[in-house]
Amino acid sequence: MIMDFRSQLLQGIPRELPPKPTYDFEVNHAPKRKAILSSEEKKLAIRNALRYFPNTWHKILSLEFARELETYGRIYMYRFKPDYALYARPISEYPAVSQQAAAIMLMIQNNLNPEVAQHPDELITYGGNGAVFQNWAQYLISMKYLAQMNDKQTLHIYSGHPMGLFPSSKEAPRVVVTNGMMIPNYSKPDDWEKYNAMGVTQYGQMTAGSYMYIGPQGIVHGTAITVMNAFRKILSGNESPAGKIFLTAGLGGMSGAQPKAGNIAGCITVCAEVNKAAATKRYEQGWVDELISSMDKLISRTKIAIAQKEVVSLAYIGNVVDVWEAFHKENIFIHLGSDQTSLHNPWAGGYYPAGLSFEEANELMNSDTEAFRKKVRESLRRQVEAIGRHTEKGCYFFDYGNAFLLESSRAGADVMAENKIDFKYPSYVQDILGPMCFDYGFGPFRWVCTSGNPQDLKKTDAIALNVLKKIKATAPQEIEQQMGDNIKWITEADENKLVVGSQARILYADAEGRTKIAEAFNKAIASGEISAPVVLGRDHHDVSGTDSPFRETSNIYDGSKFTADMAIHNVIGDSFRGATWVSIHNGGGVGWGEVINGGFGLVLDGSPEAAIRLKNMLFYDVNNGISRRGWARNKEALFAIQREMDRTPELKVTLPNFVEDELLDTLFQ
Ligand SMILES: NC(=O)c1ccc[n+]([C@@H]2O[C@H](COP(=O)([O-])OP(=O)(O)OC[C@H]3O[C@@H](n4cnc5c(N)ncnc54)[C@H](O)[C@@H]3O)[C@@H](O)[C@H]2O)c1
Repeated sequence: MIMDFRSQLLQGIPRELPPKPTYDFEVNHAPKRKAILSSEEKKLAIRNALRYFPNTWHKILSLEFARELETYGRIYMYRFKPDYALYARPISEYPAVSQQAAAIMLMIQNNLNPEVAQHPDELITYGGNGAVFQNWAQYLISMKYLAQMNDKQTLHIYSGHPMGLFPSSKEAPRVVVTNGMMIPNYSKPDDWEKYNAMGVTQYGQMTAGSYMYIGPQGIVHGTAITVMNAFRKILSGNESPAGKIFLTAGLGGMSGAQPKAGNIAGCITVCAEVNKAAATKRYEQGWVDELISSMDKLISRTKIAIAQKEVVSLAYIGNVVDVWEAFHKENIFIHLGSDQTSLHNPWAGGYYPAGLSFEEANELMNSDTEAFRKKVRESLRRQVEAIGRHTEKGCYFFDYGNAFLLESSRAGADVMAENKIDFKYPSYVQDILGPMCFDYGFGPFRWVCTSGNPQDLKKTDAIALNVLKKIKATAPQEIEQQMGDNIKWITEADENKLVVGSQARILYADAEGRTKIAEAFNKAIASGEISAPVVLGRDHHDVSGTDSPFRETSNIYDGSKFTADMAIHNVIGDSFRGATWVSIHNGGGVGWGEVINGGFGLVLDGSPEAAIRLKNMLFYDVNNGISRRGWARNKEALFAIQREMDRTPELKVTLPNFVEDELLDTLFQ
């Protein structure tokens, strides 16, 4: 019997065993994962997987799951992938008792939409390993719970596994998610391989396992802000970036945003990509202007672009190391340099060493791991040496949160500062996003219109623009530029056609901006101007949600960047101040064990209760991080938190006293 979407969803695990799965070769699948389990551990993994199903199916499924484990390194339970289409439906189409739960179902389905997700059949949204659930049984049971639950229950999800619905209260979150939370000593990359293969944990990345991914526009906005501000750091006055070079690498998932961001910032972007298919895909999507496959052509085209002061993005199909070296020989001046190869994953295809073709590297990676590692290290040393020649001439190079400096240092490349502790090049958070955005409270706020109607999104854009303009009129000079950038972004957002999947928008905003925009949305929902609830959220890559010493908190210099108290306070603090769902993750961006990050979702339904929740929660969600950044003596954060205390008498934050340097200079000599 063919069941419609609603009946299937309400059923959870189907009553009848679905037909045997067929492997879809049209879909982009996750790579085979490392075989790491012993025979006994494999049995445990199968035993764990069978917990979701009646005994009568165990014989068939045990063989099938064993085959999945051997073939793919994980048990995805392909047979149980539902046959209805996965995408964010209008909220009214979800069978639900609770509107809030329906909004969460919509967000989950968006993260699994094949147009949005990187490996949809393996429930991976982005980053190669960013999972929404570990397997399809977890998806089916979670959706059933969400459909059944009322506004006095909370669903607790352990790394994709729906532990159950528990009685709570109307004010409590509807869902609490944890992803990859480990006993600290069990947080090495191989621990993820092992415990994920056993089916007891998962890597949630940042917005994959928290249901808050909104496709590539999130990364375009952040990258555009970074490139624009990097040029501001090195150019004087009103000098234009047109005709000036931003050299970088990578046209993959996130890195593919670089050329588009370069065009928005108004420079020449030269972006090397070794994988022809990845470069061609970005070209066909209109994310990069020109594809070039010979070095001679790249050099001549770049010289023309400089001479004519062009704003253009050029993709070079080849290795970035060759570009750094050739541009030095040709005396082509690079204003801005970075790198977004996947160096958080250097040994399994994240970084392709110079001197080998793409195919040769793929071959060597599997046939001789040690020889491949040697090539990667050699290549990193060569790349760093070439970068050094450009920085001597005045190029500004920054690490783009991809572990470039970390891996280069491990490869013995010349990246250490004289004190042998720090790197001699800054990271984008240390120099740009940290002091210019996060310390003032600006971060990747976002929203989703649950009607699925583009007209609603247009209305929210207009409302947000109006709010920002009003705030800018009286904003202090310190944040005027951020306000100006964000007004430009939201003004152009619709015509830039950035929506993929749900009707979503990202907009960098501070606590005041986020709260006032949310208040205006809630009123517009109440009056009917916006036709259905709006979900608020943010990337975890933000002011307060993430403790990550090599990225989000790399500009914290009081020694506390290796602690994770801020992220934990954030998720607990948000949960009792009105979040509809909260999540806390180990891993994301920089790697398992390297970061703790959290986020929230908040459903605005036009009610007076939502108005109270948004005020309480958004205020804490941003100011928690500003207070910590201020306590670490960051002057921009001290400015922002003092300003907030002046406006909010109930806020009392502990502020640091500053010590004279001379006093310390005489100690411990
Ligand atoms: N965009 C951002 O704002 C942002 C923020 C933080 C971190 N990152 C980091 O950036 C990295 C890239 O992310 P992604 O999603 O694009 O990964 P990805 O793996 O999809 O893309 C990386 C690309 O680099 C290419 N590449 C590898 N070595 C190369 C070389 N030597 N020369 C030329 N091309 C090469 C690969 O072929 C691949 O297409 C990750 O480490 C991610 O954590 C990005």
